[in-house]
Amino acid sequence: MHFNSLSSTALTLLVLFNTVQAKINVLSWDDAYTKAKIIVDKMSLEQKVNITTGVGWDGGLCVGNTYAISNPDFPSLCLQDAPMGIRFADNVTAGVSGVNAAASFDKSAILARGAYMGQEFYDKGINVQLGPGMNFMRSSQGGRGWESGGEDPYLTGVVAAETIKGIQSKGVIATAKHYILNDQELNRNTESSNVDSRTLHEIYLWPFARSVESGVGSVMCAYNLANGTHACEDDYLLNTVLKGELGFKGFVHSDWGATHSTVNAVNHGLDMDMPGEISYKSGTSYFGQNLTDAVNTKSIKESRTTDMAMRIVATWYKLGQDKNFPKVSINSVDRDKASYLNVQRDHKKIVRQIGAASTVLLKNSGVLPLDTKIKSIALIGSDIKANDDGINSCSDRGCSSGHLAQGWGSGTADFPYLIELCLITDCNAPLITNLINVKIQSSISDWDLEAATEAAKGVDVAFVFATANSGEEYITVDGNVGDRNNLSLWNNGDELIKAVADANKNTVVVIHSVGAVLMPWIEHANIKAVVWPGISGQESGNSLADIVTGAVNPSARLPYTIAKKESDYNVKPDPSLQVEYSEKLLMGYKWFDHAKIEPLFPFGHGMSYTSFNYSKLKIKVSKSGTKDMTVKATVTVKNTGKLDGAEVIQAYISYPEKAGSPPQQLRGFEKVFLKHGKQQKIELKFTMTELSIWDTVANAWVIPSGKFFIHVGASSRDIRQSGSFNV
Ligand code: NOJ
Repeated sequence: MHFNSLSSTALTLLVLFNTVQAKINVLSWDDAYTKAKIIVDKMSLEQKVNITTGVGWDGGLCVGNTYAISNPDFPSLCLQDAPMGIRFADNVTAGVSGVNAAASFDKSAILARGAYMGQEFYDKGINVQLGPGMNFMRSSQGGRGWESGGEDPYLTGVVAAETIKGIQSKGVIATAKHYILNDQELNRNTESSNVDSRTLHEIYLWPFARSVESGVGSVMCAYNLANGTHACEDDYLLNTVLKGELGFKGFVHSDWGATHSTVNAVNHGLDMDMPGEISYKSGTSYFGQNLTDAVNTKSIKESRTTDMAMRIVATWYKLGQDKNFPKVSINSVDRDKASYLNVQRDHKKIVRQIGAASTVLLKNSGVLPLDTKIKSIALIGSDIKANDDGINSCSDRGCSSGHLAQGWGSGTADFPYLIELCLITDCNAPLITNLINVKIQSSISDWDLEAATEAAKGVDVAFVFATANSGEEYITVDGNVGDRNNLSLWNNGDELIKAVADANKNTVVVIHSVGAVLMPWIEHANIKAVVWPGISGQESGNSLADIVTGAVNPSARLPYTIAKKESDYNVKPDPSLQVEYSEKLLMGYKWFDHAKIEPLFPFGHGMSYTSFNYSKLKIKVSKSGTKDMTVKATVTVKNTGKLDGAEVIQAYISYPEKAGSPPQQLRGFEKVFLKHGKQQKIELKFTMTELSIWDTVANAWVIPSGKFFIHVGASSRDIRQSGSFNV
């Protein structure tokens, strides 16, 4: 029986996640600064400037490289994409996307993902990993939403913090990016994202705050303007908020080409210019000689360049990079010149497991997991097979043919291999070994509906695959300039699904997508299940097979809302150069709750092959109303079904009415694995961070007085237990 492997798979997962944890002893900021002072004190102005300046586009082995100095010695730092694996490199792992990490709702899996990536960046001699991303799916169309954690600040904050802890546990500096309000690709270099202070704090700053708390070493300022000022020269956002309010001690570097001045940028908080040139291969820099001159003419104080150097050197010490850091063995400009170094270890196991742990089962009327008695299945759609031209044939994955397991842009890595469906099945052979003697019919055209119908007819279960893709604006795919033009499936997906559903009464829809899509076929009586693997990286097909066969019981949850129709969403990419964040706090499910719109699949939704019961919610409050206030909620969760499986217990808080907050906001979750029949008491803890709102008059976080509610449940629209307390 294939279910027997379930508990052992879960166990392996835990063991694996535990083995990839902390390796290096990260220094405290104080100790790192003490060490840094000794060498920065010896640096001349020119030397300090050099370590803050990039060598220019294509000027080194990495996408970003600083100048090295000698006497005192400080090396050139290598900064390299991407948030999901090493870009422009061979023999590396191309794992699940950021939004999949979020969909796992699994803190230890996210930590393990960060740690294996950190290990690979370390092995390749990369000082700074340019990730995680923490911008938002403010609109479902947003091109780079898949690089981050979805639509909720709490969830995005957890993904950011755990990823950073993982990366930095291996001695690599993580980058929190893109600071800030960089939530659409449309006009990303020229638009101003305009937001009020409360929304800024409660939504957009939230993951950066959690990143700083977890010790992040660097922050990348964004391309866009924020409230009228370029993000990389915004005194309020960089100095007052990031370095002041949040207490960030690391260094701020620009996105590539996002620096627009010398004096304003430096005085307002930018510490490093990337890639160091004013424009592509111009040979000129806002830093370098211009920065030295600005100090000499007293437009910038030398103490500021000392601070910049201190921030960079201290971060390097904090991560232990002074101790035998490996030499760079990638070559972003000329890949063939990179020395051979395979850093993949057994990371594919983690990728496969997180791939399964992040595959959301949206709908299932019992056809999944596949019955071991079934005799035949169909696999239909171009997504079942890799791009005929090769898995890495489009640079930075900038196309959309064949199996979709990454979006496109700088946030990508080359696949070392790609497990799609035909690779597992040869499009002809059994799906996996426990389905021996299962006959497979396939059709790989999205447009030949007759062939699709033929393949679907007569088999026990017909799987039909469709995709939706997006990416970064420097590549246009099928007319989509980064952001998606609409929320429809690509490549005739809707018609293909309808044709298959018309032909087979056990149709299972599988969607590989960067984010929400419209599902005009969802009510079709023959569509018995919808599986949502997102974009799950090199092990994509294996992770999917684990879910559909029941080798792994699904436990992922949607990190964004899927609406019934496009007009139900309140935000889409805005073509004006003044992008007003007028929805304020009402992003994603908060808007749907507020406007009382029923989503097709709500935030936090995801099914299991077993069932869970919630009982005995208890709430305990201590030090009420003080900054040390804590609220502990305990709830008993029981696996009431026949199979072992994991449940994601979600806690949504409703603030006192006078706080003017959205109806409910996610402020805690735990994923717990329970054998069938077993139960466990789960504790969710809320502190000042989770209980307060940003008071724009006091300019501070305050816990509002009045009646709070805690709603505990299986999704934002499946609340099982509620309780309240007064402050
Ligand atoms: C621009 C992207 O916005 C950023 O995410 C990336 O790290 C840099 N380019 C470097 O490639």
